[in-house]
Amino acid sequence: MKDTIVAEFKKRFGGVPSVYSSAGRINLIGEHTDYNGGFVFPGAIDKVIMAAVRPNGTELVRVYSMDLEEYVEFGLNEEDAPSQLWASYIFGVCREIIKSGGTVKGFDAVFAGNIPLGAGLSSSAALESCFAFALNDLYNDNRIPKFELAKIGQMTEHNYCGVNCGIMDQFASVMGQAGKLIRLDCRSLDFEYYPFAPEDYELILLDSRVKHELADSPYNRRRESCERVARRLGVDTLRDATMEMLESMKDEISTEDYSRAKFVIEEKERVLAVCDALMAGDYDTVGRKMYETHRGLSKDYEVSCEELDFLNDVARECGVTGSRIMGGGFGGCTINLVRKDLRDDFIRTARTRFRERFGHDPEVYPVVISDGARKVV
Ligand code: GLA
Repeated sequence: MKDTIVAEFKKRFGGVPSVYSSAGRINLIGEHTDYNGGFVFPGAIDKVIMAAVRPNGTELVRVYSMDLEEYVEFGLNEEDAPSQLWASYIFGVCREIIKSGGTVKGFDAVFAGNIPLGAGLSSSAALESCFAFALNDLYNDNRIPKFELAKIGQMTEHNYCGVNCGIMDQFASVMGQAGKLIRLDCRSLDFEYYPFAPEDYELILLDSRVKHELADSPYNRRRESCERVARRLGVDTLRDATMEMLESMKDEISTEDYSRAKFVIEEKERVLAVCDALMAGDYDTVGRKMYETHRGLSKDYEVSCEELDFLNDVARECGVTGSRIMGGGFGGCTINLVRKDLRDDFIRTARTRFRERFGHDPEVYPVVISDGARKVV
């Protein structure tokens, strides 16, 4: 990918660019917990956005997306916001860096990626992180701490893309390390790396190819439900709520809000249980918790769809150790913890059964836990 991007850059703009990359992410467990101050357990993957970038000595940003074959130019002031969504991610990152006191000047860029779009693998976070990392290197002597780069990406989503997301995706994209998952406490922002290289198991993603779109979506409404319940319980976030507190309030809140909060409170405990089980090599517990999360996301949080529930059922029937919807939901992938000896059978069965039912194959992606944002050359 690097050579193609650099060649395109030289053709369009001339000169020798620097090349940066940032990654998509998986999450083993801990869904919709980030904006509730809870725990998440993601890792970066070997699917990336890569960008060739070079300051151009003007106040103009000129960017070419190789995948979309689209070129966009914009200035760096608020009123210069471009209308294309992909470009507004880059514009947002520039604006957020400037707002936080950093420097951004005009630059030329060409980028491409191999993260499937709308599959719940955080291609947008990777795009934000890649440019945040690049602009920190090119214009700020890397003075902006890496965690702040993740927040700049998150604020871009909030302020320029209409998604009130948590910090997980950008955090994993920036901070990811090969072979390690990261448990992040989204209240204190403390985090810890956990080696993840099981001998007998593999992580496999099955992409339903139902496109998930979080902007202006039920995603924001889920978040509002959680915040409403937290306010009623008198806590900052649902991280500080217990099931007893929620039960005591049950008659005073809507059934929907109750179910949303119940999921979040239960999910918080599941992340901790999975981290302990992982350290003890107890994959059966890890897998059981993943199935519990799926059930909660499907029945209580209601972010599943027929295709994802179907894939989850097939996984269970095939004896897969753990399986669940991954990411925000409303489409995208299931993540499956599969014993290596079952892998081929599972993939074959899932493909056949899914095709019979929905008329197309799910995509299959093996997961390789990889490095996050970095300078390539
Ligand atoms: C999306 C958001 C994240 C997180 C997940 C659900 O990926 O961007 O912040 O809330 O959904 O866990």
